[in-house]
Amino acid sequence: MKSRPCLVLQNVSLPDGRVADITLADGCVSHTGAGIPADRVIDCHGLFVLPAAVDMHVHMRDGRQSAKEDWETGTKSALAGGVTMVVDQPNTVPPLTTPETLRARVSKARKKAFSHFAINSGVTPKTPLPAMWRAGAMAFGEIFCAPSSYGEAVSPRELGTAFETIQSLGGLATIHAEEVVPGPVPTLESHARVRTPEGEARAVRAVRDANTSGCRTHFCHLSTGASVDAASGSVEATPHHLFLSRDMFDETDAFAKVNPPLRTGRERKELLSRWDRIDVVASDHAPHTSREKEQPLSDAPSGVPGVETMLPLLLAAVLEKTFTLPDVIAKTSTNPASILGIPPAGFSPGCRADFALFKKEAVSIEADNLHSRCGWTPFEGRMGVFPWLVIMDGIVVYQDGEFFRASPSWIPGKGFSHR
Ligand code: DOR
Ligand code: ZN
Repeated sequence: MKSRPCLVLQNVSLPDGRVADITLADGCVSHTGAGIPADRVIDCHGLFVLPAAVDMHVHMRDGRQSAKEDWETGTKSALAGGVTMVVDQPNTVPPLTTPETLRARVSKARKKAFSHFAINSGVTPKTPLPAMWRAGAMAFGEIFCAPSSYGEAVSPRELGTAFETIQSLGGLATIHAEEVVPGPVPTLESHARVRTPEGEARAVRAVRDANTSGCRTHFCHLSTGASVDAASGSVEATPHHLFLSRDMFDETDAFAKVNPPLRTGRERKELLSRWDRIDVVASDHAPHTSREKEQPLSDAPSGVPGVETMLPLLLAAVLEKTFTLPDVIAKTSTNPASILGIPPAGFSPGCRADFALFKKEAVSIEADNLHSRCGWTPFEGRMGVFPWLVIMDGIVVYQDGEFFRASPSWIPGKGFSHR
């Protein structure tokens, strides 16, 4: 096999405090210690050097939803946020519930994506789960326990049956746990009243009860401390639930409408207090057009973009000493890779050579500087530390606002069979 050009990251501050040179070759870390002669050397003195993030919850849209986002704009947005691998959710239009639609989505993404990507299988009573697994689904879900934007809900009985099948395949079930009661939603407060914290925690418990087969579960975007306490398996939280509460927005501002809803300041603090139990921070990047979000709140779709601002917000919190760097690396890179069963990016020989390099300065987040097609962010005006340079497979794929397309890969799940 032809060797790729060799790159050395010099003077890298490792999370344990040591300083080392990291040599990258053939897409992996080949040596950690004193550097060896290389085609290119990048001095990392004074920089944050992070294993690039795996965002295990994004909605890349494309196809009929290309006005919101497509694989190119979505994965450029990912790279510019230090994310080199995204896991796409199956509530596409049409939904991803047949091997044919999965294969078609893979081939579309292969042509357009700038980052590595994986694709999850939808879960409905009619979805042929074993065939989706063989077709290369990374995981199953997000499985909707209540309807959400473009997502159909499954009943507890259907969920139990799906768990049995996913367990027998050795797959991972990822769950959007919510309870929805009918009611008008003219405001953010009323939206949160039809999708309550108590309902979310009850849904988490109902999912546990339905899982009599012991299927491996991952709870997506939990928004309250009580739901985190109720969860089994792995737990995910989003930057918007960690950093935003609904009192920060005008009551009728649909740009802040998302499922699960933004909570009160007190509820947000309770979620933050469960930081140690949160295994994964993922963005739930769910872009919609400004036009759609400018509608009255009851008509506007739910969801906010976030793949590009996730690491920047977390690193700004590291600068403010709210979070530690090792925790941010664990929750955005090491843990999601391990939950998905993919090779980790990291500093040791053999690790995937995906890194994001950051100058340690926070700037104001402005939608005009971001790359998602949707063109807005709920984090406008907050502080973020953005990557200066991003490396994927040992190759520079982003630097100072410029993209260099390398060889993004589709990462299939463990059940993938070529036949
Ligand atoms: O707010 C949301 N938007 N929550 C979801 O679960 C789906 C997402 C979307 O796809 O727009
Ligand atoms: Zn969801």
